[in-house]
Amino acid sequence: MPSALLLTHNALRWVILVAGVMAVVRAVQGLKGDRPYAAARRAGVLFMVSLHVQLLIGIVLFVVSPLVHHAMADMKATMADSSTRFFLAEHPTLMVIAVVVMTVGSIVAKNGPDDAARHRKLLVFSAFTLLLLLAGIPWQRALVPGMGN
Ligand code: HEM
Repeated sequence: MPSALLLTHNALRWVILVAGVMAVVRAVQGLKGDRPYAAARRAGVLFMVSLHVQLLIGIVLFVVSPLVHHAMADMKATMADSSTRFFLAEHPTLMVIAVVVMTVGSIVAKNGPDDAARHRKLLVFSAFTLLLLLAGIPWQRALVPGMGN
């Protein structure tokens, strides 16, 4: 039975992805002149806040996870095994980069000279963050919390 923390970490991934897609959609609508920046900004902030919460849960998971403890017990074997190395190295690294990119993007977009520039910056940073997330999420694990692997 996975821990409550792991179940939460799993489910929050969907909130993050939906918020990220919303930020991209709102930024595109804004660029077409259909919406004020405030609407896009709200989606961007939800994306960023959910990412920060996930980052905190991820850090706690990293400390308490039996998988990580097991992986750290034999680093040579872990680095030679792509599936455990993924949770020890690739997953946390890509996710931390994603959080940093979106945090910087949110600040840069907010300080743009006009709404068009703000929407453009939000679009670029949100889309790039989404790509990093898609690359770093362990899709081989359960898609629904508690179901499957
Ligand atoms: C911020 C965006 C992140 C997303 C979207 C994300 C997503 C996920 C998902 C979907 C899983 C699989 C959950 C399951 O099997 O039920 C997972 C596992 C895991 N994540 Fe993340 N994660 C993020 C950040 C992080 C960070 C920053 C760390 C570490 C510092 C981390 C550490 C872990 C660990 C250690 C596991 C495996 C735990 C275990 O199986 O015992 N995650 N993550």
